Amino acid sequence: MFLSRRPDRIDWLKKVPLFSGLSRRDLNLVARGTTGVVRTDRGRVLTRQGALGEEFLLIVDGSARVERDGKPIARLDVGDFFGEMSLIDGKPRSASVIAETPVTLLVVDSRSFGCLLDAVPGVRRKIAVTLCQRLRAADAALAEKN
Ligand code: CMP
Repeated sequence: MFLSRRPDRIDWLKKVPLFSGLSRRDLNLVARGTTGVVRTDRGRVLTRQGALGEEFLLIVDGSARVERDGKPIARLDVGDFFGEMSLIDGKPRSASVIAETPVTLLVVDSRSFGCLLDAVPGVRRKIAVTLCQRLRAADAALAEKN
């Protein structure tokens, strides 16, 4: 399902913590860069490790697991986002993300994602904080193994 009307998209955006606290102007900016809302079935591969990254995705309903080399490394739930790494560093997808339930996703294409980072400092900061949290969690998991 793709939603094309901007007011509909803004209603979806308001449900996403990444965009909470944004002004009406910034929400409009984000809505302009949002390609649509997509529903997928359980088991669908949402991003594939090693593939080229073309989209940034936010989970508005459902959950997904992150797998690296076939092993689960994290779980993503409502409000979480993924796909930012490839768009930021231009490298292939670092992991696969697989729907664990039927999932509803908000999709932002790579060009709009770049514009979003440039134009909305609040979003940039929240993405940076999430990257730090994921790195800390990965470090902790590694330390536990060793
Ligand atoms: P990207 O590399 O573009 O595509 C796979 C995505 O999985 C990645 O961006 C992140 O959004 C997400 N991801 C990768 N590693 C982790 C992790 N350790 N914890 C949570 N999400 C991750």
